[in-house]
Amino acid sequence: MLEVRVLGPDDWPLWRKLRLAALAEAPYAFTSTLAEWQGSGDREERWRARLSISGAHDLVALLDGLPVGMVSGVPGEEAESVELISMWVSPAARGRGVGDSLIRAVERWGAGRGARTLRLSVMPDNTVAAALYARHGFTDTGEPGALLPDGVRRERVLAKSLTAV
Ligand SMILES: CC(C)(COP(=O)(O)OP(=O)(O)OC[C@H]1O[C@@H](n2cnc3c(N)ncnc32)[C@H](O)[C@@H]1OP(=O)(O)O)[C@@H](O)C(=O)NCCC(=O)NCCS
Repeated sequence: MLEVRVLGPDDWPLWRKLRLAALAEAPYAFTSTLAEWQGSGDREERWRARLSISGAHDLVALLDGLPVGMVSGVPGEEAESVELISMWVSPAARGRGVGDSLIRAVERWGAGRGARTLRLSVMPDNTVAAALYARHGFTDTGEPGALLPDGVRRERVLAKSLTAV
């Protein structure tokens, strides 16, 4: 059974476990690095702060009670948009619709708070994630995303209207 649960700051140990697993398993997918969240970067107050972003919606997916996925919805730069970040599903749970459920949960949250657009950034070579987002109706905005460490490539910025959700 798949369950999606909303987390608060007190749930930081669970978020930490999943996020460290995500950064270790899929470093190609994120601009944050494992090194930034290990050692001196691995502090309770930092994890609590991550789960205390004003207006954010932090979710984990549990498959038969085991945590297997994560995602956040955060307020966008413009009042009418929200952003999907930190999406990850553990390798053993992939291809079973966990990503679908997490996207739908963020869409419902965004629509419920009156947002008209859901935006996200994806690495230019992350074809698996891009296919998932395309299947959910996201399209390329054509906007230049964040510049990557190679100084050449940029993230792709995708968006989807929430008015029909
Ligand atoms: C992208 C990601 C979240 C998709 O999660 P998911 O729950 O597997 O999503 P889905 O079940 O919809 O499967 C997505 C695709 O993975 C592929 N897939 C299917 N079974 C799989 C398996 N056992 N293992 C790996 N990939 C599989 C398929 O191409 C599938 O699409 P399709 O079934 O429509 O052809 C997940 O692959 C992931 O966490 N990747 C690493 C982190 C990442 O890229 N995050 C996104 C940052 S923008």
